[in-house]
Amino acid sequence: MDKLVVKGGVRLKGRVAISGSKNSALPILAATLLTPETCVIHNVPNLSDIRFMLEILAQLGAKVSFENGTVTVRAEKVKSETPYDLVRKMRASICVLGPIIARNGHAKISEPGGCVIGDRPIDIHLKGLAMLGAESRTEGGDVYVTSKELVGKEIFLGSKFGSTVLGTDNIMMAATRAKGLTIIESAACEPEVRDLAEFLRKMGAKIVGQGTRRIEIEGVEHLGGVEHTIIPDRIEAGTFMVAALITQGDVLLAGADPDHMVNVIDRMKACGAHIKSDAKGVHVSSTRKLSSIDLVTETYPGFPTDMQAQMCALMSVTPGISAITEKIFPSRFMHLSELRRMGAMVELEGATAILHGVGHLSGAPVMASDLRASAALVLAGLVARGSTEVNRVYHIDRGYEQIDEKLRNLGAEIERVK
Ligand code: EPU
Repeated sequence: MDKLVVKGGVRLKGRVAISGSKNSALPILAATLLTPETCVIHNVPNLSDIRFMLEILAQLGAKVSFENGTVTVRAEKVKSETPYDLVRKMRASICVLGPIIARNGHAKISEPGGCVIGDRPIDIHLKGLAMLGAESRTEGGDVYVTSKELVGKEIFLGSKFGSTVLGTDNIMMAATRAKGLTIIESAACEPEVRDLAEFLRKMGAKIVGQGTRRIEIEGVEHLGGVEHTIIPDRIEAGTFMVAALITQGDVLLAGADPDHMVNVIDRMKACGAHIKSDAKGVHVSSTRKLSSIDLVTETYPGFPTDMQAQMCALMSVTPGISAITEKIFPSRFMHLSELRRMGAMVELEGATAILHGVGHLSGAPVMASDLRASAALVLAGLVARGSTEVNRVYHIDRGYEQIDEKLRNLGAEIERVK
């Protein structure tokens, strides 16, 4: 199993090109199942999660190719059963459910189950589909969904954790082919949901309100082939922002969209970071020690849960006491025990990490538990004294395109060991 070995202490400097967004590309790839015509999607990051999704599309009967960041999919016919061994590897595979129901009227998909960031049910996805007229039952770990006809409705998709991103995606995709008007209340507003809506609109769907809490979808008879370019990955950009700040470096995030990162930029400025945006992207630097901050993760436009672990790494070496509260996945804190092994002083009180900034971390062998946790450990390694070995690197390869090469180009001493 590969590991990343990082030697800390180098100030990162230079330009890093931000890849296309994983969380935008995954549902957009699923949406290609809505049409028998050809879809061409550019700026798709070459990640293991993306390759899983392409494998799922191929197993569902689509013709798929992926070359130089461009995916072409043609799904003339779509099977209704999604293979368990692929679904269990990637929770985001749930977003093929909406398109399969819209296309075939029935679907069988394995219940994705929990994962290391917490319990991740799909009850809200199923509730939304039920309101459109699709019945579901779970048997032997599989969910069977059937509908004679999807009919538009007003659907409330909120929960105690806020809105659901892939739930909103699934209902929006199913509703494109439902009869009449569907209104999603308490919809997720994430830029990735907006990107999917733009993709669907190019296919011929009638959607308004994307990016707000209320999305209206008027069902249509036919959706067609389309060409689309995926938005930049705001979480990858945020992760490189932390890499610049934790090393007191100076980095241009080429192609990053500051409009998608308002809250992250605000919190980083609050700690004392210099951040400027122009047509080239977002420029981040810090020449002095940052100061501690408090933050709470929330649904967009709040601070993203997908940046929480990276901020824990940053605050573990920032003087003062920081409080980082997780509201979306309250048990998403597996990285803390590994950061502690590197010398971080942190306690967990409920869903709040209390970090006492220490003078330095020291390199240690650590274990990645999920995608963002592994990014946090690499970030900690960039500033730790000595060498940090991040094991189980496959987690990081799910969501960061060539992270080691990109960091090396900024001057980091990082190596992938087979
Ligand atoms: N939830 C339910 N029932 C549901 C759906 C969600 O209770 O039916 C709860 C979840 O358990 C969680 C909260 O609602 O507590 C929000 O989950 P959401 O459905 O929004 O998460 P998701 O759509 O499954 C996407 C991203 C995640 C990201 C979350 C939150 C993709 C492929 N995944 O997941 O990304 O953390 O939204 O922003 O878009 C990552 O990239 O590392 C990652 C985990």
